[in-house]
Amino acid sequence: MAQIEPFHVMEMMRRAAELETQGRDILHLEVGEPDFATAEPIIAAGISALQAAETHYTLARGRIQLRQKISNWYQQRYHASVDPERIQVTVGASGALQMVCWSLINPGDEVLLVDPGYPCNQNFVRLAGGTPVLLPTSASNGWKCTPEQIDAAITSKTRALLIASPNNPTGTVMSRQQLTDIARLCEGHKIALIVDEIYGGLIYDQADFSACELGSEVFVINSFSKYFGMTGWRLGWVVSPERFVRPLEKLAQNLVISPPTISQFAAEVAFEPATIAILEQRRQQFQQRRDYLLKTLPNLGFKIESCPGGAFYIFAEITQLQRSSNDLCQHILEQAGVALTPGLDFSRDHADNHVRLAYTIDMADLKTAVQRIAAVV
Ligand SMILES: Cc1ncc(COP(=O)(O)O)c(C=O)c1O
Repeated sequence: MAQIEPFHVMEMMRRAAELETQGRDILHLEVGEPDFATAEPIIAAGISALQAAETHYTLARGRIQLRQKISNWYQQRYHASVDPERIQVTVGASGALQMVCWSLINPGDEVLLVDPGYPCNQNFVRLAGGTPVLLPTSASNGWKCTPEQIDAAITSKTRALLIASPNNPTGTVMSRQQLTDIARLCEGHKIALIVDEIYGGLIYDQADFSACELGSEVFVINSFSKYFGMTGWRLGWVVSPERFVRPLEKLAQNLVISPPTISQFAAEVAFEPATIAILEQRRQQFQQRRDYLLKTLPNLGFKIESCPGGAFYIFAEITQLQRSSNDLCQHILEQAGVALTPGLDFSRDHADNHVRLAYTIDMADLKTAVQRIAAVV
């Protein structure tokens, strides 16, 4: 436990909550979840499931109806053929990441993780007895790891490489070619490739694609949390190579018995055209917010070194503002009533001179937040 770091953003959230109790109006740019409520058709399906008393466990792998719908989604959206047998429904992408780590890692195994990246991954690797090995990336390279870098980091102990695309906190999107090259390299070294596509669908400048297109050897993780706007329903999935289907099923049986039932019924309408129309509108709103911040933040001293192509985050460089990221976030919270996330949670090398802004508030509030920040920096 001594090696498990707390989520530092929580400190910021705690102070923001204190200020709110004192009557201060705080704008939240620190929260990594969509501001929109779950889309109406999904809520209606959840209510119907409750009214029909669908309140029991399901199979550990999830309802076949949902797994079939996820499979259809890959076919329709990405022209990728994914056998529903390879799909395990999980408790969020968090559940999928943990189960994949436990199914793969033996004590002492190394797992390569991109830095900056989602902080919990290091802890999932540690909890499974593995050692996280960071692959440092830089803005000059679009925050992308390269095959050469991966090749150099691989040792006899390396078991897996985990990449999120789009990435949290940088919003970096890997191209099909880049991931194809990396998949080939991993195959050559016989190490597992895990691609976390939790921000899939939230892509703004290029056509969306899924690592499922790269064949059946890649672990592809996804979630209903972000694009589908269902964070609190705690539902995700993993598409695994065939030989991991049974290990993942056994883990699910033991760890959670089954993923949440009501959420599974609700998620079955997430792929319907009427729902997707709502989600696509929301995606456009995220894009407008991103474009607004890309235009305004540099005038305030927040440098955006590499354009984030997806997710809903901007990882901005703040050297010009002459404070460490923690100090700056505290200052902006106290003086401007705007909560940001210091870089500390996401990176070893870029912690002090970067902050993460989540554009998960509506445009009017975002404009107010920018005005308030401008007034104090
Ligand atoms: C990159 C990444 N992966 C996984 C998760 C876990 O999300 P969930 O468990 O809600 O699906 C998050 C949450 O923010 C994330 O940013």
